[in-house]
Amino acid sequence: MAEKTRVCSVDELTDGAGKEFAVAGRVIAIFRIGDEVHAIDGLCPHAGGPIGTGTLRRGVVTCPWHGWQFDVRTGQHCLSSSIQTTVYDASVENGDVYITLPE
Ligand code: FES
Repeated sequence: MAEKTRVCSVDELTDGAGKEFAVAGRVIAIFRIGDEVHAIDGLCPHAGGPIGTGTLRRGVVTCPWHGWQFDVRTGQHCLSSSIQTTVYDASVENGDVYITLPE
């Protein structure tokens, strides 16, 4: 069964940017876009770059290492339909950000 885990307070996130968190032994990148939060694998699928520290524009994050770009809402690579990163269900409840991790 999937487990819902608190990651941080929404106030710790900057609107229009991402941040890295260690959650249950994984690196998770959380992005805030207005009232929305989105969570993806914090390790870029190309070579493990810190994608949570990348630049976010119009819902697309650019990995700081080699420039791969992903839609943080879907995990889809912007140029190749065959490349996708893991997306986690994310929500804000009472000012706290939660993600749902698979077992
Ligand atoms: S590690 Fe992210 S683009 Fe290479």
